[in-house]
Amino acid sequence: MNEPPLIMTPPNSPRRSILVTGAAGEIGHGLISLLRHDDVSIVAMDLRDVPEETRSMCDEVHLGDVCDKNFLEHVMTMHETNEIYHLAALLSSRAEHVPETAHDVNVQGTYHLLRLSARLSESWGQRVKFIFPSTIAVYGIGSVEEKMAAGALVEGEHLSPITMYGANKLYCESLGRYYGRYYRQVSKSRPECLVDFRCLRLPGVIAADTRPSGGTSDYVPEMLHAAAQGEPYACFVREDTVIPWMTMPECVDALMKMSSIDSPPSSVYNIGSFAASAGEFAEAIRQHFPDAEITFEPDQGRQNLVDSWPADVDCSRAREDWGFAPKWGMEEALEHYIVPAIRKHYEAVSQETS
Ligand code: SER
Repeated sequence: MNEPPLIMTPPNSPRRSILVTGAAGEIGHGLISLLRHDDVSIVAMDLRDVPEETRSMCDEVHLGDVCDKNFLEHVMTMHETNEIYHLAALLSSRAEHVPETAHDVNVQGTYHLLRLSARLSESWGQRVKFIFPSTIAVYGIGSVEEKMAAGALVEGEHLSPITMYGANKLYCESLGRYYGRYYRQVSKSRPECLVDFRCLRLPGVIAADTRPSGGTSDYVPEMLHAAAQGEPYACFVREDTVIPWMTMPECVDALMKMSSIDSPPSSVYNIGSFAASAGEFAEAIRQHFPDAEITFEPDQGRQNLVDSWPADVDCSRAREDWGFAPKWGMEEALEHYIVPAIRKHYEAVSQETS
């Protein structure tokens, strides 16, 4: 039996009503700051408390679980959500400790939101826009030799993830494509209006004002935050470990840009600004923080995860379809954003605590 539409009348106002899940996470804050520039209503959701700085930019904040479909239905119908940034997820390292929980959050949570978005799109005759951050963890390459020989991967290659997180995200990309293009495709009562699903495969992302947790690309941000605080850091991957990177401002800009264009030809896009090894980062960080004490003590488990991820990603599709352009290489990113912003961040923290 088909699911009943949720509400029979379209929302009163055409205003963008945006739901951001996982709003307390690293991407949430930067994204909400950018979204705030427009005349939109922003509803934030997280299981954890949302920091005051982010909270103050939102029209409403709900504490709750993306696995609770009644709660999601309540939030989305109450706020007449017509746009979702679904950021809530358990990242790759954390997910390997609790794979079943990761599956619940990463897959069930996304599935509930897609289903609700489909019902709302049908009820209103307006496509609910669904923006989904995916990841380089959807790729899985068999060996380091093969990884280095493969170079920059395009979206269709090596899609054999070795992590729960990567498998979850790859499946949710397919689920999003299904709800966006093929939903109930043989049914006579197929709705005319389907979900407008779009996703970006993110590389390692570096933020100056937040420390990541639970990811496997965390080693570079951890290295930077330790150096800025004058703390020693033992990097958990080998010096020669290479993956693609970008800064948080570039990441949120790209999410907004991809979300703003009309009808992108594809629903899945690679993005990344530069590829760099852990050793290259350590060297560059020492130029800015000469006292930085960085050592390498690889953890075989986490090393295996990053070894299966691509050394780089080919972003031609994003460039051609919606004008994605990396802003900075590694040195420029450090010079123009990361180092000044991280210094400012810790100066502010030390003023607050003194
Ligand atoms: N940053 C993610 C992680 O490390 C990968 O996209 O899990």
